[in-house]
Amino acid sequence: MSNKREQVFVWSRKIRLFHWINVICISLLIIIGVIILNSKLIGVSTDGKVLLKTIHVLVGYVFAFNLIIRIMVGFIGRTHERWTEILPFQKGFKAELVNFIQGKKSTYKGHNPAGKLMVFALLFLMTIQMISGLVIAGTDIYYPPLGKYFAHSIAIDKDKANEIKPYSKDNVDEIAYKKMREVRKPFITAHVYGFYGLIFLIPLHIIGVIIAERRERSALVSSMVNGYKYLPKETDQYK
Ligand code: HEM
Repeated sequence: MSNKREQVFVWSRKIRLFHWINVICISLLIIIGVIILNSKLIGVSTDGKVLLKTIHVLVGYVFAFNLIIRIMVGFIGRTHERWTEILPFQKGFKAELVNFIQGKKSTYKGHNPAGKLMVFALLFLMTIQMISGLVIAGTDIYYPPLGKYFAHSIAIDKDKANEIKPYSKDNVDEIAYKKMREVRKPFITAHVYGFYGLIFLIPLHIIGVIIAERRERSALVSSMVNGYKYLPKETDQYK
């Protein structure tokens, strides 16, 4: 490989902003999620639980908005923003992966093949967290987008459905409530397994980036801050 390197602009401002907002949101969501998960053990009061869930959901909205924008940019954006570039579904991906594993090619302008697989797995789990989270925000604290619908479905006096409080049995039809909890079950299961998946993959993602940084020496980490990688001059051939 030539020692001569050039500065190549890879990650647009949109992508970098998405990445760091996502990092902040997921960190907060994991911390608050772990506390909710262990709230009995820690002895959190009912009001405390409602407060934790409310904060978790508010951060969740930022996370969901950021993710939806990123998903849209993947369809309409430029080169390295597009799903066709980033996800591991292009023609020839298998061969690309084999070359990467055998060390035949070590410098990439966008993601390397292992990075593409990781991005796909992370996006998949994040989408599960977003969808399941938005549903349980409605069943647990009656927050949008489905809170009004669920509160209405369990209210005895439908005109006062908006006044139903989390964990309160006032104006709540017991049978309708149980039915709603049945609907909630698969979503909370998905939410908890999605969480386990993320806390397994996030450290792998960080380790992968550190390994790639040492192997490629292309300033991979700082490229997510300033957008530029430092690639060997002949890297034109790499995508
Ligand atoms: C990466 C994203 C997320 C992670 C890692 C995460 C993690 C967690 C965890 C670990 C719990 C505790 C589960 C339990 O107690 O059984 C939880 C609960 C909850 N999450 Fe999330 N979450 C994420 C995104 C969201 C989003 C986007 C929303 C909605 C806007 C949301 C809404 C909720 C709600 C309402 C609960 C309370 C459920 C309950 O335990 O009763 N989450 N989350």
